[in-house]
Amino acid sequence: MMKGTINPVSNILIKGGRVLASGGTTEGDVLIAGGRIEAIGGEQRADGADVIQAAGLWVVPGLVDIHCHLREPGFEHKEDIASGVAAAAKGGFTTVCCMANTNPVNDNAVVTEFIKRRAEEAGPVRVLPVAAVTKGLMGEELTEMGELREVGAVAVSDDGKSVRNAQRMRLALSYAKCFGLVVISHPEDEDLVDGGLMNEGYWSTALGLPGTTRAAEETIIARDCMLAALENARLHVAHVSTAGGAEIIRQAKRAGAPVTCETAPHYLYATDEWAQGYDANTKVNPPLRTVGDRDALIEALKDGTIDCIATDHAPHHLDDKNVEYALAASGISGFETAFSICWTVLVKSGRFTPEQLFDKLSLSPARVLGIDAPALEVGSRADITIIDPEAEWTVDPSKFLSRGKNTPFAGRTLSGEVKRTIAGGVVVYRGE
Ligand code: DOR
Ligand code: ZN
Repeated sequence: MMKGTINPVSNILIKGGRVLASGGTTEGDVLIAGGRIEAIGGEQRADGADVIQAAGLWVVPGLVDIHCHLREPGFEHKEDIASGVAAAAKGGFTTVCCMANTNPVNDNAVVTEFIKRRAEEAGPVRVLPVAAVTKGLMGEELTEMGELREVGAVAVSDDGKSVRNAQRMRLALSYAKCFGLVVISHPEDEDLVDGGLMNEGYWSTALGLPGTTRAAEETIIARDCMLAALENARLHVAHVSTAGGAEIIRQAKRAGAPVTCETAPHYLYATDEWAQGYDANTKVNPPLRTVGDRDALIEALKDGTIDCIATDHAPHHLDDKNVEYALAASGISGFETAFSICWTVLVKSGRFTPEQLFDKLSLSPARVLGIDAPALEVGSRADITIIDPEAEWTVDPSKFLSRGKNTPFAGRTLSGEVKRTIAGGVVVYRGE
């Protein structure tokens, strides 16, 4: 939430929740003082503290999103850092990493520092910039990665497109390694995409829309895994959407390549069939795939092939989406549905324990980028999310705090809801 509207740092007592503490799950209270966790478990007392009744609720480490688009600088009509951070907090996130495809592109220290400054003004949710791999995202000249790291970039990525030239990608991996930076690959070969608007298959044929072959994604995943192995440099593959892509990463990991990957909530739920009706809110890169892909991604998440879940929150203005399918911008506004989609598909269905899901949404993504993970332990910064596991709610984009109302989940009923988000000991989101 924006500065001025949030509680000043005061003592907070979370009463009687199910606490996912570092040492294991326990029932009891959590006391926060001075922005840090003061005590966990048992019955705590604190006169004058802001008390949150949490009986029946999960009290978990703040969620971490390593892939989002906050659009500032340059596209503030879609989102700015303040509105993005408010939406992130509503989604339960206390740390978010924002991609470099702004205008100007985040390919130099001035832009990185600007983003960090705006984030500080927006409040205590941690915003960690991902800088570009190549200047202007043009796929040619590498950025000054050492300098970018020094001013706070936590990874490098040309997200939105892959680095087209394989030799340039090889050099990028080798250069990023010198500074301990992970390269995040957007796995789509734009030559193979060739104007495709949705997954190539039955539904693209039935709807008469040009399709994108899964090979566009899988060839880049294979290429980048090979290059990462060659250079022994850390690669993270963004938004894996196909069964074949996950299988390539499974094999690469087995062979010892220093590779990690994520998928996004929408690939775990929605499929290409949703493009019926030509709703441009179903348009996203990579595209929504088939039921078979979706099931394979869930398996890959379960067996550890897919390390974590990231939102790929990609807010767009109504004018970017309220046009014919071919002209619409790609992307889904994801912060405010991410947790509940995952809870519905993975936990409510009995496939994952709550602990397994929270790992994929907090500890594991932090580990992938080597950033501090929120931890429920005494002395840690109080980054905490409180979840109602029984709540059911219907997605209404007009209630989003994000400026981007673009979601294919409008009208869907989801299970599990974020009730409170606390960042640095400050309540940044207060649900009903
Ligand atoms: O659908 C997408 N939208 N995929 C991307 O990789 C980029 C994103 C955006 O920036 O809108
Ligand atoms: Zn991307």
